[in-house]
Amino acid sequence: MPSDSLVLPKSVTEEDVLEVRHWTDELFSFRLTRPAAFRFRSGEFVMLGLMVDGKPLLRAYSIASPAWDDGLDFFSIKVQDGPLTSRLQHLKPGDRVLLGKKPTGTLVLDALLPGKRLYMLSTGTGIAPFASLIREPETYEKFDQIILTHTCRNVADLAYGAELVDSLVEDPLIGEMVGPKLTYYASTTREDFVHKGRITTLIENGQLFKDLDVPAFDPAVDRVMICGSMAMLQDTKKLVEGFGFTEGSNANPGDFVVEKAFAE
Ligand code: A2P
Repeated sequence: MPSDSLVLPKSVTEEDVLEVRHWTDELFSFRLTRPAAFRFRSGEFVMLGLMVDGKPLLRAYSIASPAWDDGLDFFSIKVQDGPLTSRLQHLKPGDRVLLGKKPTGTLVLDALLPGKRLYMLSTGTGIAPFASLIREPETYEKFDQIILTHTCRNVADLAYGAELVDSLVEDPLIGEMVGPKLTYYASTTREDFVHKGRITTLIENGQLFKDLDVPAFDPAVDRVMICGSMAMLQDTKKLVEGFGFTEGSNANPGDFVVEKAFAE
């Protein structure tokens, strides 16, 4: 029986840390056990945290693994004075983490109308829900082309996404489904790289479409999912609305959906 069980809220379970990987001084990922009763749709987020001074300290985290996986992956920043991530970054295999029982969210395929091309636009840890969705077979059943963009300050920040995409394309099981449909487009803003600039800039000046050799956003055929910081969401949302896209939700599917990359 866990030592904190007397104060463990009914809304959470305690899960084991299976694996931890540090990508940079500011980014790490970890894998947890998944309770048998835990159901979610690829792209959703869940509350996650630790007991601190006898109380649960929980934050929303996008689940980075797909719905079919038997473990749960997360990708997080480390904020040195952040109440939760200052502690979470020291996780080791065998440690226990609190996991909410009710995942939810709008970055799900159900919230989008049918379309041909699906854009997933992310910055920083905002790639997490897309790490889930690019491993979801339904994504490839519903769309002809999937374009995942990831913009970070530095090249090293791109490693998590780049490595995942590489491993998918080479995967003997899903490589055949992913390879022909998934396009990965990474850019940096504070270091030299093959593509440079904020995603908003690359959309505005048309560079993204030129590099990808596709027509500019068209709400008749394109769908967009957006995940990043609050400022990134606001700016990108405004931009896609300018192209005539309307926002969707679980109750009212639309042309695009947005979600904050949860961070302290
Ligand atoms: P920049 O370096 O120009 O600020 P952060 O780590 O601050 O969340 O940033 C992650 C990435 O998102 C960075 O490349 C950053 O670019 C970019 N970014 C920050 N704010 C915006 C915004 N309002 N619109 C688009 N991209 C943004």
